[in-house]
Amino acid sequence: MGKATAKLVVEQGGEVLIASRSAEKLRLAQAEIVGKQGAVTTKVLDNTDEIAVKEFFDSLEAGEYNALVISAADRAVHGSFLSLEVSQVKALFESKFWGAYFCAKYGAPKLAPGGSIVFFSGVLNRRPGLNCSPLASVNGAIEGLTRALALELGPRLRVNCFSPGFMETERFDHMEVPKKQAMLESTAQSLPLRRVGQPEDAAAAIYFLMSNSFTTGIVLDCDGGHQIRQYASQVNDPFRGK
Ligand SMILES: NC(=O)c1ccc[n+]([C@@H]2O[C@H](COP(=O)([O-])OP(=O)(O)OC[C@H]3O[C@@H](n4cnc5c(N)ncnc54)[C@H](OP(=O)(O)O)[C@@H]3O)[C@@H](O)[C@H]2O)c1
Repeated sequence: MGKATAKLVVEQGGEVLIASRSAEKLRLAQAEIVGKQGAVTTKVLDNTDEIAVKEFFDSLEAGEYNALVISAADRAVHGSFLSLEVSQVKALFESKFWGAYFCAKYGAPKLAPGGSIVFFSGVLNRRPGLNCSPLASVNGAIEGLTRALALELGPRLRVNCFSPGFMETERFDHMEVPKKQAMLESTAQSLPLRRVGQPEDAAAAIYFLMSNSFTTGIVLDCDGGHQIRQYASQVNDPFRGK
């Protein structure tokens, strides 16, 4: 979703600096985003490394960028609350919450006045699923941070949060193809729009948060209607017509 957002910004005539931990992935992303010379620069950065994040933002000129979009999160842990190792849940917080926190803390002073920050949460906070308490918790923490920072960093900056539903991204590439396809298909069938999201759906919503000058402190859902999806199966739901 981060890459799709960078593509959209470049299509709109903007310039982006994209960061991740892998130089090879950044090289491929840079090649994929077609734009004018110098429209895409890259930085290898692990955002869980507070010192590296601070040094990176210290190296930027103030006012050089209008927006900071933080989509980074490592693989999420799933499992029952009683059986999950606390250390695994803490690792998710390290990557998704603290990584975003460091970027906002050291990046905010460098953004141009009128600029904005976009955090990422996810549908599992307000519409949880069984065995998803780690993501429910970390997404809630990020949404809370969003509202607090919108107050504290305004009026110079706007701060919003993007909350995706199920999006077909590289995040699931580690899965066996049949399993991945089955998961995507069954999720799609449970949604009012009968499809999962694409990175481009996310990019359009994130672009709105980055650019709309009167939007701050919100969580924007882009989830194909996931919040109102019907969970009961056709077989055992007495209120559903045949
Ligand atoms: N896809 C969904 O269905 C879905 C649903 C709800 C919420 N979300 C949330 O949306 C966000 C983006 O998801 P996505 O599906 O676009 O994920 P993705 O395809 O896995 O992309 C995440 C990117 O973050 C980078 N990253 C991970 N850890 C990092 C770190 N410590 N430092 C720097 N970069 C790091 C990864 O690159 P490297 O490996 O090269 O570092 C990767 O390019 C995540 O916060 C996710 O939890 C996704």
